Amino acid sequence: MDVLGLYPMWYVPTIGSAIVIGIIASIHVMASHVSVGASILLAYLATKAYKENQPQIYDYIKRYLLTLLVFSYVSGSISGPGIWFSATVANPRGISALIHNFVWVWAAEWIWFVAEVTLVYILFYTLGRIDQKSWLKLAWIFAVGSWATMYIIVGILSFMLSPGHEKWFTTGNILDAFYNKNYFPHLLMRSSYMLAFAGVMGLGIAHLMKKGISEKVYKDIVRTMSYWGIAGVIFGSVFFAWYYSTLPERSHVILSGVVPTSYYVGIGLVLLAILAYFTLTSIVPNLARIYASIPLLILIFAIGVFPEEKIRESLRKPYIAGEFVWVNQIIDKDIPAKGIENEVNKINEKGFLAVNAFVPEGLKTITPENKIMAGKAVAILQCSGCHNVTGASGLRPFAKKFEGMTSEDAVYGFLANYLTPQAHPPYMPYFVGKDEELRALSAYIADMISKGGRVSAKIEVPPASYEARK
Ligand code: HEC
Repeated sequence: MDVLGLYPMWYVPTIGSAIVIGIIASIHVMASHVSVGASILLAYLATKAYKENQPQIYDYIKRYLLTLLVFSYVSGSISGPGIWFSATVANPRGISALIHNFVWVWAAEWIWFVAEVTLVYILFYTLGRIDQKSWLKLAWIFAVGSWATMYIIVGILSFMLSPGHEKWFTTGNILDAFYNKNYFPHLLMRSSYMLAFAGVMGLGIAHLMKKGISEKVYKDIVRTMSYWGIAGVIFGSVFFAWYYSTLPERSHVILSGVVPTSYYVGIGLVLLAILAYFTLTSIVPNLARIYASIPLLILIFAIGVFPEEKIRESLRKPYIAGEFVWVNQIIDKDIPAKGIENEVNKINEKGFLAVNAFVPEGLKTITPENKIMAGKAVAILQCSGCHNVTGASGLRPFAKKFEGMTSEDAVYGFLANYLTPQAHPPYMPYFVGKDEELRALSAYIADMISKGGRVSAKIEVPPASYEARK
């Protein structure tokens, strides 16, 4: 029996594995963006302290470094591997596609990352103990190293959305994949917004230290944070417009038709709130407050970064990476340069359940006894990356999408015309498999709808199908 290199499926009922990754990734984005932004702001402040001979600025820098150590480096070091673990079990082929292109790029990122982590400790513990000039050099190396990790990871993230140039499909060249069309706008957009995030944190820390430093130094620091922050929001938004213009066509359909309006409203409001805060503190520095910064950082996380990460996950649909692996892990393109073959025809011919080595034997051949279970297996394997296929709430639930369709024929009639290579919407893959598998999927959906739209996620192989095989 021919099998394809498919993997077991991690099915998270209701919210789906995508939201699990989304939550972990958003924590990571918060931690890393604040820390990369701060590394640049602090190197700038350290230069100012050195040139203008203002030792009190170093007290502030030290406090900020401690905040980074406790806030960013602990949560960042936990959530970073968390993305690896969750993404690997959620989509082994997606991760594999990325590793096969970018293994050395990742190796380079880790070197910068190790440098960054080591330096934040060195900077904190050597401040005031070594001469200012050497410390300043280390501070700038920290800033460059921190930003280098972003410089590298953005290339991989942009490739996930699209290789950008058709030529990568024939050359398979790593640089074609890395410097894809939306690389620079993406990098510059993140680089700008991270300065704003770090500025919000910086204002809160300035408030906490107000009593310990002179008024002049306090005002200097608050103004620096505010000006950089204002520039960050404005430039971030300009680069967003550039980023938007480099998106593939299907992403525009998704942005206008699939992403909920509330996401845009939330992100817009957060940006306005940050801009207002910086504008106020740049005029009246005494208004910087930790009680404003912390709630604002929570808002940035909840209605800024989290929806942004969700949108970024959505924009690349139906693909998980490089416009050749779908979210359900099926490969729909030949990429000779990489030795990758389109699997669609083979699956259509052999059967979707038959080519996956992890589908129980008793479900590979469809019989009247196992039909509904086999259909559930198809739904979990082929649709659950983007849908809650066993319930009525959470991620685009099937119970809502197929509301009222309690007959197998009705579901089949709909899907057979909708999820075809010609008619499928640009954000969803078409159905792949034998016609009897589409029938089984339809039977399962009709059955779950007639049971009230909520069934167990368990796959049970009916005993009769073992009998049938004997
Ligand atoms: C790559 C992600 C993805 C996969 C995989 C996927 N879908 Fe979808 N599906 C979507 C999106 C996105 C929408 C529409 C937007 C929404 O409702 O959020 C959608 C909408 C639907 C709808 C509603 C159609 C309409 O016009 O309102 C149905 C029905 C549906 N999907 C069925 C399926 C079935 C069956 C499968 C598996 C064979 C599947 N989907 C696999 C992403 C996906």
